[in-house]
Amino acid sequence: MKISKICCIGAGYVGGPTMAVIAQKCPHIQVTVVDINQARIDGWNDENLENLPVYEPGLDAIVAEARGRNLFFSTDVNKAIKEAEMIFISVNTPTKTYGEGRGQAADLKWIELCARQIAAAAESDKIVVEKSTLPVRTAEAVKDILDNTGHGNKFQILSNPEFLAEGTAVEDLLAPDRVLVGGEMSPEGREAMQALVDIYAHWVPRERILTTNVWSSELSKLTANAFLAQRVSSINSISELCERTEADVSEVGRAIGADSRIGPKFLQASVGFGGSCFQKDILNLVYICRRFGLIEVADYWEQVIKMNDHQKARFAKNIISHLYNTVSGKKIAMLGWAFKKDTNDTRESAAIYVADHLLRENAKLCIYDPKVSKEQILNDLNYLNTRTPEENEAMVEIVTDPYQACKDSHAIAVLTEWDEFKDYNWDIIYSSMLQPAQLFDGRNFLDHDKLQEIGFRTFTIGKIIPPVKPYKEVLNA
Ligand code: NAD
Ligand code: UDX
Repeated sequence: MKISKICCIGAGYVGGPTMAVIAQKCPHIQVTVVDINQARIDGWNDENLENLPVYEPGLDAIVAEARGRNLFFSTDVNKAIKEAEMIFISVNTPTKTYGEGRGQAADLKWIELCARQIAAAAESDKIVVEKSTLPVRTAEAVKDILDNTGHGNKFQILSNPEFLAEGTAVEDLLAPDRVLVGGEMSPEGREAMQALVDIYAHWVPRERILTTNVWSSELSKLTANAFLAQRVSSINSISELCERTEADVSEVGRAIGADSRIGPKFLQASVGFGGSCFQKDILNLVYICRRFGLIEVADYWEQVIKMNDHQKARFAKNIISHLYNTVSGKKIAMLGWAFKKDTNDTRESAAIYVADHLLRENAKLCIYDPKVSKEQILNDLNYLNTRTPEENEAMVEIVTDPYQACKDSHAIAVLTEWDEFKDYNWDIIYSSMLQPAQLFDGRNFLDHDKLQEIGFRTFTIGKIIPPVKPYKEVLNA
């Protein structure tokens, strides 16, 4: 079966970049990305590529090449469903905030809405592809809805989870470690899988395209994220021990990562992992295990989240203790708000929780991030409901100049590893701060020797850095 028209429901961080790359690599396929959010679609259609709703290095060029040729963004969901032979569902599946499974299970209401809308709008047989990350066995529910409400049209459900990481989405999509396609093992199921494999084969080597049954594919996505997050929590747990023993977590990471069985990636100790996926997907895994009565399995994975919460809190507490146990009324500069560099996404960013912790202690925050807007930062804080929006506005200043953020502050907390932070004139920043000028590097990536030479007292994760200049000397300088 040859696919000539694709529709993707959901124009977010996954739907947008994924479809842009498919359109670029398959100029003969018409790709229409639809969303109910008019502002998002307007952003994707904006002539000024700086206004695309998702910031990813290299994405603007791909959109510029394919948009209007065979890549389209629209809010007309029904039309795109009708026209397409293959429909990707790439809508959000956040943690439930109400009812049974609240705080753990994935909220599948948008998935069900999509299934119902596909069934209602379809006028011919369709291949429906789960691109969203879903609990294992969701395809069963999607198929049931489609088969019972789809006016006799035939539907094949495939699972094709997305493994891109934000900040490197384009790279990951152009050269994925693997593409995973799960489907029914019937002749029709295999034919549908082949149709999707043929699309990816336009640029992905065949041996990197794995096919499995649909349940393995669904579960592999949750498992991959759980394993990755577990590595971060594991190294973060060791970072705390390093701080007590004069071991250096970077050295430990390098030493264990050299073992080919362990490998060097994802061993960077940090203030804690963020992002829309890790926490949500592990919580979902924990919930599924509990529902099956697998208490030990659930407890095992839950610990990854507990460790991460501990790491975020530990970072904030460390700042407070070094500021003589009080940050009340003190200006603290926060550099970075995104959950990692090279993205404007802030979902579950460690910065949000560190900020909230400091605000509970009445700190005055001045925040700078190169890609995150003031509105987004305030939304993130307001969403926590710890204090009123007016209180957040009064306690938090958000600036577009990092030097202004640091001026007159007692301390700087670095929350995201943006490259530009390395190139700042730290001499100027140092002299504009209150003394002793303290810097807390939540990403372990600045040049601490240089910062200490300037006079900063620096603190980083998983390492004791004795101050080279005693406080007295700093005062007399
Ligand atoms: P997102 O929130 O950025 O985008 C989802 C979009 O779907 C939104 O724009 C929303 O308006 C739209 N939408 C919701 N219901 C709709 C409907 N009924 N009709 C039309 N549009 C609808 O989410 P995302 O980050 O792109 O994630 C999407 C899925 O992909 C999630 O399941 C997520 O777990 C998974 N995933 C995300 C990443 C990532 O890095 N963000 C990576 C891999 C997988
Ligand atoms: C993750 C998965 O990597 C990706 O495969 C999946 O499709 C979506 O979820 P993402 O959340 O975009 O991707 O970014 P990732 O690079 O995995 O980083 C997640 C968080 O872990 C970030 O906050 C990052 O700073 C942190 N991290 C990562 C560390 O603290 N240390 C590391 O060594 C690696």
